[in-house]
Amino acid sequence: MQNLGIAITGSGSAVPETFLNNQGMTELVDTSDEWITTRTGIRQRYLASCHESLTQIASAAAKQAMAMAGITAQEIDLILLATSTPDDLFGSACQIQGELGATRAVAFDLTAACSGFVFGMVTAAQYIRTGVFQNVLLIGADILSRWVDWQDRRTCVLFGDGAGAVVLQANQSDRLLGFELKSDGTQNSNLNLTYVPQCQQLTADLAVSTGNFQFISMNGKEVYKFAVQKVPEIIDKALFRAQLTVEDIDWLLLHQANQRILDAVAQRLKIPEQKVISNLASYGNTSAASIPLALDEAVREGKIQNNHIIAASGFGAGLTWGSVIFQWGK
Ligand code: UT7
Repeated sequence: MQNLGIAITGSGSAVPETFLNNQGMTELVDTSDEWITTRTGIRQRYLASCHESLTQIASAAAKQAMAMAGITAQEIDLILLATSTPDDLFGSACQIQGELGATRAVAFDLTAACSGFVFGMVTAAQYIRTGVFQNVLLIGADILSRWVDWQDRRTCVLFGDGAGAVVLQANQSDRLLGFELKSDGTQNSNLNLTYVPQCQQLTADLAVSTGNFQFISMNGKEVYKFAVQKVPEIIDKALFRAQLTVEDIDWLLLHQANQRILDAVAQRLKIPEQKVISNLASYGNTSAASIPLALDEAVREGKIQNNHIIAASGFGAGLTWGSVIFQWGK
């Protein structure tokens, strides 16, 4: 009989070599450790130097995840890279495939900003459930520091760089218990990294656009309100699909954007703080990397154990948001 269930069997993570703490931030913009800590919970963030690439940190995270799953690169059928900041605008998943020597794997990028990892997990699951692929490597990685306006204190203090990865495998019992995904493009202007066209006249009749992407721009207050309202709703829906209740959750694993968002969502869902995974004090908001990075840390610390039920939720630009309920291990 074919295994059409899904198990999440390994995780890994990697960050750049250098970090910048809040004190260091005060040398760049008019801010303070006190403001950043009380408003966000962030104390430091890792930032990629100009010699470090997304492919490097993503590959490092992927190698750890494959080692934990006990699987070789040649056994991987599909590599999905959730990112908004590839080294190559055509996609970086193939660069990672080359770096890993995953010769059998098909590889492509998936962009859903800070929801990318959750969207990626659901995408990976479809290939496994239909019997097309057995072993999928899903990576969430971002180097947002490339696109941050380092003179804008409203955004530059928030973000960090990093990568996290998981291996999803076909399995007899299904460990992906429920999910729900949403998008709302009408709110796109609240958080974006927009291409700004610049007209270049080619002929008398034709001007093409040869512009550039601008910096990350965010209406923090609106995104905050959106997150605190929509995330509890979507977790409830994913739980309903899994035929579970909030009491069944062992860990709440949210996109690590702001400690106040983590606290407010947990409070609305009536989940005690001991069940909330939080590592943003050390990493800041690492976009598509934040959920797998926090997952991997919690697994390696022995917090998340075999059979634990995790409610994960990503939210961010698009706007996009989503939730997956899964059970760790085989
Ligand atoms: O990953 C995608 C998802 N993103 C998010 O979930 C982000 C959601 N939003 C947030 O986390 C919060 O809205 C922020 C952390 C971005 C901002 O916190 P806030 O409590 O909403 O602050 P605010 O934007 O209302 O700003 C309050 C004050 C303003 O000064 P005035 O106008 O009251 O005089 C800001 O200019 O704080 C000022 N401010 C700062 N002061 C010191 C803004 N940034 C800073 C800063 N340091 N870094």
